[in-house]
Amino acid sequence: PVIVPPGVAFLNGHFTAENIITKTTRSGDLVGVFQDDAAWRALPADTPIYQVEMLQSPQGEGELFVGTTHLNPGRVGDEFYMTRGHFHQRREQGEVYFGLRGSGLLLLQSEQGEARLEQVSPGSVHIIPGNTAHRLINTGSEVLSALAVWPTIAGHDYASLAQGFKQRVFLREGKIQAKEVQNG
Ligand code: 6PG
Ligand code: NI
Repeated sequence: PVIVPPGVAFLNGHFTAENIITKTTRSGDLVGVFQDDAAWRALPADTPIYQVEMLQSPQGEGELFVGTTHLNPGRVGDEFYMTRGHFHQRREQGEVYFGLRGSGLLLLQSEQGEARLEQVSPGSVHIIPGNTAHRLINTGSEVLSALAVWPTIAGHDYASLAQGFKQRVFLREGKIQAKEVQNG
């Protein structure tokens, strides 16, 4: 007998499987994430910003989660919608992202605060080493979907980035512009 495994539709990142877990992050959940606080307040708190769709997996040492992040297009003020971003709680644990649809950036930052941006597009492969914080930014006009694979033991540490990442990405004068910032 041949088992039909869960699948992912590469055109939209949705899984074909029975047991999918989804979590939506809304504007109101992203306190202090965007630079323009007034613009953030002006946005209804229930505005969906991104959704994570995950396969149910066994958890423990050696096990992997597989999930897709669907990040809506939009801006808070002139700053593009983005995920909260995190280090893994188990700092040394890496992750791989695969661009599926839309266009955007993956912001990576070391513990020393060195930030770099990778272009995310359909088919792009992103190796996130251990000890590296990561955030997706949607710089396009359609949903940005990226498939991710990461160890179930990795966990999330959001607190270490409460000061923000060292780069922010804006639409200014009709152009996508990355700016270095001191503290978020
Ligand atoms: C993870 C993945 C990924 C991520 C989502 C949402 O480690 O779980 O990097 O699934 O969690 O893209 O991003 P935030 O967790 O930063 O909100
Ligand atoms: Ni992660």
